[in-house]
Amino acid sequence: MRALATDAGPRASLRPMQEADLDAVYEVELRAYPFPWTAGIFRDCLRADYPSWVLVEDGRIIGYFLLSLAADEAHVLNVCVAPECQGLGHGRRLLRAILQLARGRGAHRVFLEVRPTNKGAIALYDSEGFNEIGRRPRYYPAANGREDALVMAIELLPPE
Ligand SMILES: CC(C)(COP(=O)(O)OP(=O)(O)OC[C@H]1O[C@@H](n2cnc3c(N)ncnc32)[C@H](O)[C@@H]1OP(=O)(O)O)[C@@H](O)C(=O)NCCC(=O)NCCS
Repeated sequence: MRALATDAGPRASLRPMQEADLDAVYEVELRAYPFPWTAGIFRDCLRADYPSWVLVEDGRIIGYFLLSLAADEAHVLNVCVAPECQGLGHGRRLLRAILQLARGRGAHRVFLEVRPTNKGAIALYDSEGFNEIGRRPRYYPAANGREDALVMAIELLPPE
């Protein structure tokens, strides 16, 4: 599969995730989220052929995303940048790659869920054109019980 062309991060490159990447991906996941996915979820996504990509810099995985595609809708399952690499534009690059990939696969709309407390992620999604379209009550585990998810979506224009 060819690499995705995006407009940021000259040193880091995107390539499809492989099973051999799972330990490194999971190591980033554990450091990036207070309530991380299990290693099994990543493995299941790969085996189900969900589009899954890693961002590699100097041979090290510094970010990744996974999405599902069904009919003309894409759903962002996970997008993550290693904590020490955040705030450098990698998250925006991953998000743009997601939109490019979804558009290329014929998706008309992309959805995602985000914690209302995740202000940085919300600002990123908002700045790339996502709108809040609803809430899923008690969707996420949280320190004191459960936390709602904001559901955000963007309508895609067809590829040029
Ligand atoms: C959310 C995440 C992917 C963003 O990646 P990133 O590489 O830090 O983001 P970028 O450097 O590309 O920043 C893009 C925009 O996000 C917003 N942003 C990022 N971090 C922010 C922060 N701490 N506070 C406010 N806004 C922030 C800004 O709008 C920023 O744009 P700007 O630099 O032009 O102001 C990353 O912080 C992350 O992996 N977090 C942990 C996992 C996670 O929460 N994933 C999202 C689950 S829904």
